[in-house]
Amino acid sequence: MRVLVIGSGAREHALVLALRRDPGVSAVVAAPGNPGMAQQAQLRAVDPCSAEAVVALATEVAADLVVIGPEVPLVLGIADAVRAAGIACFGPSAAAARIEGSKAFAKDVMAAAGVRTAHSEVVDHPGELDAALDRFGPTWVVKDDGLAAGKGVVVTTDRLAARDHGAELLEQGHPVLLESFLDGPEVSLFCLVDGETVVPLLPAQDHKRVGNGDTGPNTGGMGAYTPLPWLPPETVTEVVDGVVKPVAAEMVRRGVPFSGLLYAGLAIGPAGPAVVEFNCRFGDPETQAVLALLDSPLGALLHATATGALAQAEAPRWQDGAAVTVVLAAENYPGRPRTGDVITGTEGAEPNTEVLHAGTSLRADGALLSGGGRVLNVVATGADLAAARDRAYARIAAIKLPGSHYRTDIALAAVEGRISIPAAHV
Ligand code: GLY
Repeated sequence: MRVLVIGSGAREHALVLALRRDPGVSAVVAAPGNPGMAQQAQLRAVDPCSAEAVVALATEVAADLVVIGPEVPLVLGIADAVRAAGIACFGPSAAAARIEGSKAFAKDVMAAAGVRTAHSEVVDHPGELDAALDRFGPTWVVKDDGLAAGKGVVVTTDRLAARDHGAELLEQGHPVLLESFLDGPEVSLFCLVDGETVVPLLPAQDHKRVGNGDTGPNTGGMGAYTPLPWLPPETVTEVVDGVVKPVAAEMVRRGVPFSGLLYAGLAIGPAGPAVVEFNCRFGDPETQAVLALLDSPLGALLHATATGALAQAEAPRWQDGAAVTVVLAAENYPGRPRTGDVITGTEGAEPNTEVLHAGTSLRADGALLSGGGRVLNVVATGADLAAARDRAYARIAAIKLPGSHYRTDIALAAVEGRISIPAAHV
């Protein structure tokens, strides 16, 4: 099977690596890809948001399967165009991708499916902001009502900070979504979904704030780990049966069946799991850790999902142990990042670690340059989370990029047994 992966970040780099481990995959083409993937994939230029360009490339490279990584092309209907050209595509239709692209659609589907989620209101006029804030908080959850790659979210007990963020979004012409705060540790559960068939992958946890101890502004994600030792084992089944399957069935009922990866972002509170958000694609950086433990052929699973055959596919198998991803970010990220600096120290082949590229480019002389906010990910596996953490941090310490920063506490609270589910109040 020949696979075309659309996207250029560390999530797509992890997809490429896992596809190359699948003996049924004969070639991987990544477009636009990144310099880190050049060993494992043929790199081709493409505008991921141009249906014409993606279909032309998929046809030219004789792809048997196209895998679309990021949400924006999915929301724009690129998967529909690939399927219309007769090529199997892993990723939902534009209509189904509204589960991420339209918060109002997602809330409506969840209400119809009887799924617990935060109460929310959309504010689209500055004159309505104060009264709306009075109906929420503390804690306030203030989101950009569009696609903002995680960075449009402020969660704060400071009403002024909540108001400032809401006012800034409105000034930029973005409607604001206010949500009630969901208590409890967060879980990302990725599920392969093909109509009403739902197959969960390993649960993972992201670290969204820029600083150690969950301080500072939200980012696209500074690190992740899997599995979650603090999560009761029955919770995954509870989420699949009580959240993902009802949502998948409701989408089928509405005539917009979901095909691809449905990402349930959950808070595990005193009354059980509640949905923070749904995304229509693999999460970043959790995918990098989850796929590091996958012991089944990824191409076969994605192809089965894309062709309506997931119910007949063999269930995913997982390596024992744990995986940790640590993100190396450029100076000033999540603000406007410093770019164009030379990166050294990515070479080396320490066992059980990988350096994945997220925002890099190559200079004419072959030097590797930083080219985005999140620059590299180090992924490590180990017998347990502590061992995986030690390996990831040993590897990232050898990488040099002026002004760069990374969190030093990825998965630490889990290793130290400091994560617990809040008890129900009686
Ligand atoms: N891990 C956050 C995201 O992928 O949106």
